[in-house]
Amino acid sequence: MILVTGGLGYIGSHTVVEMVEKNEELIILDNLSNSKLQVLDKIHSITEKRPAFYQGDIRDPDILEKIFSNHAVEAVIHFAGLKAVGESVNKPIYYYDNNITGTLEVLKVMKKYGCKKMVFSSSATVYGNNPQVPFREDYDLSTTNPYGASKRMIEDILRDVYTADPEWSITLLRYFNPIGAHKSGLIGEDPNDIPNNLLPYVSKVATGELDCLCVFGDDYKTLDGTGVRDYIHVVDLARGHLKALDYVRNNAGAEAINLGTGNGYSVLQVVKAYEKASERSVNYKITSRRPGDIASCYACVEKANRLLDWHAKYDLNQMCEDAWRFAYNENEKK
Ligand code: NAD
Ligand code: WQD
Repeated sequence: MILVTGGLGYIGSHTVVEMVEKNEELIILDNLSNSKLQVLDKIHSITEKRPAFYQGDIRDPDILEKIFSNHAVEAVIHFAGLKAVGESVNKPIYYYDNNITGTLEVLKVMKKYGCKKMVFSSSATVYGNNPQVPFREDYDLSTTNPYGASKRMIEDILRDVYTADPEWSITLLRYFNPIGAHKSGLIGEDPNDIPNNLLPYVSKVATGELDCLCVFGDDYKTLDGTGVRDYIHVVDLARGHLKALDYVRNNAGAEAINLGTGNGYSVLQVVKAYEKASERSVNYKITSRRPGDIASCYACVEKANRLLDWHAKYDLNQMCEDAWRFAYNENEKK
């Protein structure tokens, strides 16, 4: 039995779908702070199965105790966390408590029950503003905001856990920029507030919910001056978690592994691909740089290829087509 924390969120729900389709037995724990219970119905519609669900907080030892005493948990895929960079600057205590205290509570119950396998959601944000792309896992880490710092601290904690007890097996998956949606168009990323990230914003301009995309800077040293990122299809990312689960089942250690495509695309290339996929125009204007942004960020994916036997399958056009199908469906319902 696998415990999936944050399993109703954007990446978690896509991973749960892939797991159910591979006949993995799983339990979801989510406090719905950034997701909706209806996602469980959508998972059911896609897979014809309904995973066990506990509504609760990873910081609550009682619910964790209940789960571990009711089920033989073999491994934890740990998505639960808060992820908005800007919000983390304004609410550092809330972010550190949720992400770090939450992870410590999960580790405590795992230790108590002898469960020593974890797949953790880290982030390319731990590379900070290193200008040397592609990012390799052995680079020095640095962070520029409480969200990123929380991921970096958790990575350190997990490495220490392994050092103290080498029976542990942990992968620290450093995601680059997940976008796209399941091909059913039923699950995807649909933030309630005005989106901070590029793709949800572009989607809302294409549907007409927002007027115009602000492109944050066109004077970077990149092919067209706009920021370059390694966008990765969320279903590829989900597939990467199944490979990571295989890996932790068979190898002890604490390994940081990048999950990206290894290719970078600029903001304007994304806008163009999205226009093609949606057959709509995406209004944009160039504005000043967003503080904290870097010019280019993309992954070295050699380690994921080698250790996990995992490669991203989907290209930018597919990511935009799938993102658009989901955005269109959601907008039709409003
Ligand atoms: P998300 O917000 O859609 O999903 C996170 C889920 O965790 C949500 O369903 C939320 O309700 C739940 N949750 C949050 N705090 C919780 C708590 N204390 N107890 C129980 N449930 C809780 O985010 P996502 O995009 O699916 O990200 C999943 C993980 O991957 C996060 O840890 C995030 O930091 C990390 N990550 C995301 C990205 C990205 O761009 N989406 C990139 C790198 C890393
Ligand atoms: C992508 C590009 C922007 C919005 C963030 C987090 C990172 C990780 C992934 C969790 C940049 C440009 C964006 C807009 C724009 N999350 N942009 N107009 O900043 O690479 O990464 O999400 O771990 O930690 O920092 O992603 O989607 O915000 O930006 O021009 O309205 O799009 O400047 O070049 P980012 P993003």
